[in-house]
Amino acid sequence: MTTSAPILLAIESSCDDTAVAVLRGFEVLSNIVHSQVLHDPFGGVVPELASRAHMEALAPTVNFALSKAKVPWSDITAIAVTQGPGLLGSLLVGHSFAKSLSISLGVPLINVHHMEAHMLAHFLIEKSVQEAPIPDFPYICLTVSGGHTQLVIVRDWNVFDLLGETQDDAVGEAFDKAAKLLSLGYPGGPMIDRHATKGVARFSFSEPKMPPMQFSYSGLKTSILRSMQDEVKRNPNTLTEDLPDWCASIQQAMIRPLINGLREAIDQSGIQQIAIAGGVSANRLLRAQVTALGQELQLAVYLPPLSYTTDNAAMIGAAGAFAFQHKRFGQVSDAAKAKWNKYE
Ligand code: KG4
Ligand code: ZN
Repeated sequence: MTTSAPILLAIESSCDDTAVAVLRGFEVLSNIVHSQVLHDPFGGVVPELASRAHMEALAPTVNFALSKAKVPWSDITAIAVTQGPGLLGSLLVGHSFAKSLSISLGVPLINVHHMEAHMLAHFLIEKSVQEAPIPDFPYICLTVSGGHTQLVIVRDWNVFDLLGETQDDAVGEAFDKAAKLLSLGYPGGPMIDRHATKGVARFSFSEPKMPPMQFSYSGLKTSILRSMQDEVKRNPNTLTEDLPDWCASIQQAMIRPLINGLREAIDQSGIQQIAIAGGVSANRLLRAQVTALGQELQLAVYLPPLSYTTDNAAMIGAAGAFAFQHKRFGQVSDAAKAKWNKYE
C-alpha cells in the first residue's frame, strides 16, 4: 500500500459493540471495541439499552481510536460505516453519526454491509504482528455469527454468491441458548468453547437431516434440552458436575454440520481456498477442524485473527478500503437498514 492510501475512519454499531477503527488503506492503525456489558443480566441483547449505550460510547470511542492511531481529524479521507443488517436503533446511532461526520469534514461516506465486512476481514494488514496470508478471489467463506450461518463464494470484493444458509436459527444463537441452559453467561459461545477443552463429547443429540449446504439449529437446541432433562433425572447435578462434557458434546454437534457443509461446497465449486468469518469463527474446534480439512484436501485455509472474528470496525474499514478504491460512495440521504439481504 502506498503512502497515498486513504485514511479511513470506520464505525460499527449494528448490535451491542460500539467499535471504531482507523485504517490507512487495509492497514489497521487502531481498532477499538467497546463491548456493552449491561446486557449480561438479561441473557441477550436488549435493543433499547443497546442504542442508548451506543449514544454514550460512540464519540469517546472515536476520539480514542483517532488518538491511538495518532491521526488528526484533518487527515481523515473517508468515513466507512455499517449501514446494516442489524438492530435498527443501534445502526441508526452509528450511521447518523457517520453521516454527520462526512458532512462536517467534507469527506465521502462509505456504506458497508456488516456480513460482507466479516468476509473481507481477511484482507486486513496489521504491521505489528506477523502478516497473515491474504486470499485471492474467489474463496469459499463459512460465515458464522450470532445472526447468520452461511456458505458463500466470495467472487470479488462486492460479488458474493450464497450457496446455503440456516433455515432457522444461527449457530451463534444456538451456542448462546445452549449456554443459557447451562447457566453460563452471555455471550455463551466463548464459555462453551472454554469449558469444552476439558471435556469429552459423550452426550449425544439428534441432529437434523438437511439438504447439502443448508443448516438447521432450532431442532438441535430442543434435542440438547431433552438430553439434559433426561440426564438430570439420573444425576441431578449433571449440569455442574459434567459441565465440560456437556460443552464438548454441544460444541461437537454445532460444528459437525458446518464442516460437512464446507466439504460439500468445496466438492461442488472446485474452489481451492476456504475461509471462515464471524464470531463463531473464534471457536477452537471449528478452527482446528477447518485447518484439518484444508490439510486433508490440500487447500489454502484462511482463519481470521481472533480480534477480527467477533464484531469490530477494522473489518468495516476493509470493506471501506475496497469501496474507496472503486469510488463507491454513499449519499447523505441513505438510511440504515435493519434487514439487508443482498445475496439471497
Ligand atoms: O459476529 P459476532 O460478534 O456478532 C454478530 O454479528 O452476530 O458473533 C457473535 C456470536 C455470539 O453468538 C457468540 O456466542 C459467538 O459469536 N461466539 C462464539 C465464540 N466466540 C463468539 N461461538 C463459539 N465459540 C466461540 N469461541
Ligand atoms: Zn457480526
